[in-house]
Amino acid sequence: MFDPAGDIRLGIVGAGAMGGGIAQVAISAGLQVLLYDQKPEVAKQTRSAIFSRLDSRIAKGKATAEEVVAAKARLQVTSDLASFADRQVVIEAIVEDLEAKRSLFRELEGIVGEDCVLASNTSSLPIGAIARACRHRRRVAGLHFFNPVPVMRLVEVIRGPESDPAVMEALRGLGSRLGRTPIEVPDSPGFLVNLGGRAFTTEGLAIVHEGVATPAQVDAVMRDGFGFRMGPFELMDLTGMDVNFPVTSFIHQAFFGDPRLRSTPLHRNLYESGRLGRKSGQGHFVYSDGKAQVPSADAAISGKAARKLVLLEPDDRLRAFVADLEVELLDRDDRQSPILAAPLGEDATELCRRSGAEPQRVVALDLLPDVSKRITVMGAPNVDRDIRQSVVDLLGEKRKVTVIQDSPGFIAQRMLAMIGNLGCEMAQIGLASPNDIDTAMKLGLNYPKGPFEICDHLGCSRVWRILERLQALTGDDRYRPSQWLRRRATLGLPAGFIAT
Ligand code: NAI
Repeated sequence: MFDPAGDIRLGIVGAGAMGGGIAQVAISAGLQVLLYDQKPEVAKQTRSAIFSRLDSRIAKGKATAEEVVAAKARLQVTSDLASFADRQVVIEAIVEDLEAKRSLFRELEGIVGEDCVLASNTSSLPIGAIARACRHRRRVAGLHFFNPVPVMRLVEVIRGPESDPAVMEALRGLGSRLGRTPIEVPDSPGFLVNLGGRAFTTEGLAIVHEGVATPAQVDAVMRDGFGFRMGPFELMDLTGMDVNFPVTSFIHQAFFGDPRLRSTPLHRNLYESGRLGRKSGQGHFVYSDGKAQVPSADAAISGKAARKLVLLEPDDRLRAFVADLEVELLDRDDRQSPILAAPLGEDATELCRRSGAEPQRVVALDLLPDVSKRITVMGAPNVDRDIRQSVVDLLGEKRKVTVIQDSPGFIAQRMLAMIGNLGCEMAQIGLASPNDIDTAMKLGLNYPKGPFEICDHLGCSRVWRILERLQALTGDDRYRPSQWLRRRATLGLPAGFIAT
């Protein structure tokens, strides 16, 4: 077995986007790398691309000329797989095809020594299915990097059904040596990050599918309300429907149709019609000169702000929020002013049914996310448009306003509750610890907070309540709370609580 801290002779098969990135970080970390591609010219092109990326690090002051010269000398390209005979570890990054990977692993076993570790960078194939082609299955595991490798600081170390614990330990060490944070995950569909990432995109799609909001509105709410660098639609357009639709469908099927992981016809339609996103010039948004043409997410302001308001229910958060507005808060309903509410997991229609309030005058605000830059507003289908506009005008004096159609949980409550819930479910089914899940989501997906941090930030019991109401009002088991979350919310424990 190789020593992660020692001299490592690494082989990489497949010199595409991932193989090239892995080779770059490996030679930069002092490893001796042999790179092979079935198309020898691709391996040579990749070597040139790596060299020019390393040169640009000198220009940016991120590496010295000596370091780059030494790193370049550590990269060899070969057109003969037989020269992998002395490799201590091989990382496979070829086409995502089970038969191709199996046949490569079979071939490699005939070349490398018996204690050479064989790792696959597959993003979706079961490690157990690849290892099945091998005689020595204990040496096979997954080492799943993220694109672009030199930028993304996470690596998932996938434990196949027969992976040797010593192999897992060595691969975790290798991940750290390459400057990534290694997180160990069992062999399960989508591993951690590709599974955990489904909540963000599919709930965004569900909101648009229901006609609640536009993609631009969902994106703006998630950026301004919770600090996501990108909303789900910008993200899907960036990764491309040719990547995210098949991954979403695969994971949904692999979990036997779990509605939590379900996508929408719009997603399939974009994929099938070749509207793949940025790369094809059109996806959820249209691109011209590489820039997205994004419709406004902001409600128009008419300058007729309400100056008197009533609160539907005693609500400290809402009262504190209103105290900051230039408006008179009435003690008693004057039968003409807007009635404000800040529901959790309810739509305005249900809120009016439950409270008996006049739906024409009820305007609901989402106070769960940060509302300093933007606030989301909705009413029942028969809300008086002038009354709603007077609230929009009032709120618009201090922030942007997004007006959506009636929806239990607005936008942000739904999205955040779904992210938190899926994170809890991942812990419940034993994929990783809450800490590791949070780390993986932040490093692998650039989330501002991990699912458990989101639950604790919003309050576990609030997240649970949102989901319960969503499930009850929609009748959709997509929103069923994870038992992990229910137990911790019921007992008043932090979302990531584990007895020590
Ligand atoms: P790519 O298409 O850029 O590169 C694949 C390379 O493998 C090509 O140069 C091809 O000529 C070569 N190849 C194909 N079959 C081969 C064989 N039998 N022997 C030797 N070389 C062969 O693909 P990419 O994006 O680098 O993906 C590679 C692997 O990494 C796939 O399993 C993919 O699922 C996985 N992955 C991809 C990510 C991404 O964002 N692109 C992220 C994480 C994992």
